[in-house]
Amino acid sequence: MLVLGIESSCDETACAVVTETGRVLSDVVQSQVATHAPFGGIVPELASRDHLKNARFVVRDALSRAGVSLGDVDGVAVTNRPGLVGALLVGVQFAKGLAWATGKPIVGVDHLVGHLVASFLQRDTPHPVPSLPFVALLVSGGHTAIYRVDGLDPSLIRELGATRDDAAGEAFDKVAKLFGLGYPGGPAIDRLARGGRPDRYEWTVPMRGTSSLEMSFSGLKTQIMQHVAKNGVPEGDDLADACASFQAQVTFVLTRKLVAAATREGVRDVVIGGGVAANRELRERVVAACKDRGLVAHVPEIASCTDNAAMIAYAGAVLLGRGVRDDWALAASSKTLLPRATRKGGGAR
Ligand code: KG4
Ligand code: ZN
Repeated sequence: MLVLGIESSCDETACAVVTETGRVLSDVVQSQVATHAPFGGIVPELASRDHLKNARFVVRDALSRAGVSLGDVDGVAVTNRPGLVGALLVGVQFAKGLAWATGKPIVGVDHLVGHLVASFLQRDTPHPVPSLPFVALLVSGGHTAIYRVDGLDPSLIRELGATRDDAAGEAFDKVAKLFGLGYPGGPAIDRLARGGRPDRYEWTVPMRGTSSLEMSFSGLKTQIMQHVAKNGVPEGDDLADACASFQAQVTFVLTRKLVAAATREGVRDVVIGGGVAANRELRERVVAACKDRGLVAHVPEIASCTDNAAMIAYAGAVLLGRGVRDDWALAASSKTLLPRATRKGGGAR
């Protein structure tokens, strides 16, 4: 089975062709970074307009790189939640148009489920895939949570703990902005941190214990904001040290809670996904911590971590394979279908 996936939930217009076994035949991502960079963040209306402008070309490219035509495709999968509704609508309407014109089935995919299955994608080098049940850390610009996954249906995915405030990627982006590193900040901090000393600044992430799997990242950002207000923006070696100190705190706590979750749930397979899973230090820490404890780490290729349509096509292929279909009433929503357990805000629980 060949599935064409479309992703437009945020600032990437993407299309991919993937088989039901997760083999990626093509994966095209048109980034809008240049559109939003002058504003220091994503402007929703501009995102929708860019999706509208680019969707046709991205789909055409994905089909031609896969060496297939629309007629060869067995179904269309599209991200319909969560995300910017105006941005999602462009992808959903485009996908409906393709499905209607070709008579193929269409299925809506939750973007977060897409991130959770990214480690099933097979690109250049074949690798083992996670076995169910597994524990997954989803770390992106909008979400940070640890899940127990017993199946791909949202009813089989249970949140074990999430951030009470900022997502980890949001913390990377905000701290990068404070350091004058532009948007998106994650990759810039990752790069600079390589040459820095992680023990130079004594900033700490709160809620670092493992008695709770909930997390908090806004306090760390505030400590750095206060440091910058007092001492100015760090430069040169200081900047590298500041990036390394911030990143070490975030990746330490994410890894620690992830491993604690796997131990608590008694599962062997550990998965990471989402844009922050592209972070070099997080990837290294997760692999090392899992090795120490006899767990099996599944760390997707970088292209599978950041937003892409291959993960949407694969999640769609699984759904279509089970006979799931949507109709023309398929709508866009800003909310995920995954159940939430963690409440926002501080205080004892
Ligand atoms: O999954 P994603 O592409 O989009 C969302 O669904 O949010 O994640 C984007 C987030 C941004 O906050 C970006 O700064 C972060 O992922 N990110 C990184 C790295 N690459 C992307 N954070 C840390 N290190 C990286 N190498
Ligand atoms: Zn994402």
